[in-house]
Amino acid sequence: MDKLLITGNGPLKGEVRISGAKNAALPSLAATILASEEVHLTNMPMVRDINTMCALLGELGFGVKKGNEEVFVFGAGISSHIAPYQLVKTMRASILTLGPLLARLGRARVSLPGGCAIGERPVDQHLKALEKMGAEIVIEHGYIDARVSRLKGADILFDTVTVTGTENIMMAATLAEGTTSLFNAAMEPEIVDLAELLNKMGARIEGQGTQHIVIHGVERLHGAEHHIIPDRIETGTYVCAAAITRGHVAITGARPLHLRKFLETMENARLPFEAGADTIEVKPHEGLLARDIETQPHPGFPTDMQAQYMAVMTQAKGRSLITETIFENRFMHVGELNRMGAHIKIQGHTAITTGITPLSGAQVMATDLRASASLVVAALVADGDTLIDRIYHLDRGYHRLEEKLGRINALVRRVE
Ligand code: EPZ
Repeated sequence: MDKLLITGNGPLKGEVRISGAKNAALPSLAATILASEEVHLTNMPMVRDINTMCALLGELGFGVKKGNEEVFVFGAGISSHIAPYQLVKTMRASILTLGPLLARLGRARVSLPGGCAIGERPVDQHLKALEKMGAEIVIEHGYIDARVSRLKGADILFDTVTVTGTENIMMAATLAEGTTSLFNAAMEPEIVDLAELLNKMGARIEGQGTQHIVIHGVERLHGAEHHIIPDRIETGTYVCAAAITRGHVAITGARPLHLRKFLETMENARLPFEAGADTIEVKPHEGLLARDIETQPHPGFPTDMQAQYMAVMTQAKGRSLITETIFENRFMHVGELNRMGAHIKIQGHTAITTGITPLSGAQVMATDLRASASLVVAALVADGDTLIDRIYHLDRGYHRLEEKLGRINALVRRVE
């Protein structure tokens, strides 16, 4: 199994270009199920999860052609309604095929995603909404089996804000009979990007980016071309990498507006940076101040930045309270950071980080995608070598990480 060897090497410097957003690219690939014509997606991050979703589309009978950061999907040949366990178990986002399959074929059989390292992560809101739209759903042998002659528009109130739940029902509603209203919908930029693609395919969606989304069902959708938005979490991760090393890094091809709460927090922590329309220039500094955060759905502080931010707070002056409100078990990185010399205590859903503590290189274990990113950020300032195991977690969501870090003066290499 591959590992990543990182040696602390002083301030990062140079330019790094952001790739397309994994969490926008995945639902966009699922949306191609809704059309029988070609959909062309550009600015695609060719990470492991994208390959898994492309393999899933192939299983369903779609023609998929991958190029340099682009994917072509040909939907005419759909031949199956089954998303098998073998693929779903490696990527929960496979659940995003449920709504489109049901809407297009009136039938879907999708392996029920199990729990994951960061939480139980049920999909009850997805199923409840589809039932409200007329679907008959049974769970048997580990699969969700759904049938409907045609979905009907309905008023859907989500009991909890769910990103993929909003995306799944928004996609399903595009081909439903009548109008669907989503209340307490998620407002993430990835949902807005997906709605833009769907509208290019002939859907009629309004209100994306607000808590109330309205979808007027249409008879059919057609092909389209769409450029995926930049990855705001990858962007935030590189801001953290530059900040923790007190480096000078220009982050390009980004969309700072999508990261407002995080950037506001970094500013309060006294990180000097300049944000333009699509760039963030992080500047050298003499030291950061500890600042508390609480993760919230967008536009609040993103849970996917919590772990990387915690690594930075180990090098900030004072005590910071980091409260995780979205997932019940998203502190797996704490033990590993403490093994590197950090002082972090967990009390309930809050981690109390005391800085500044010198970090030393160690052998550590990645447990999930963002936890592994926080270990990378910490290793950049640790004394000596850090060897990160199970980096397949990183490969799921970070495009060309070693190459990009290597270009900005980090000493990083993959060891088999
Ligand atoms: C999306 O996951 C992202 N994944 C996650 O990113 C991200 O952490 C999360 O949203 C929150 O921002 C993708 O977009 C592919 P949720 P999702 O449904 O949609 C509960 C990464 O690192 N809930 O918004 O699965 C759930 O348990 C990944 O890139 C229900 O109770 O998250 C959680 O506590 C990790 N019932 C909360 O809602 C449901 O039916 C939010 O989950 C659905 C969700």
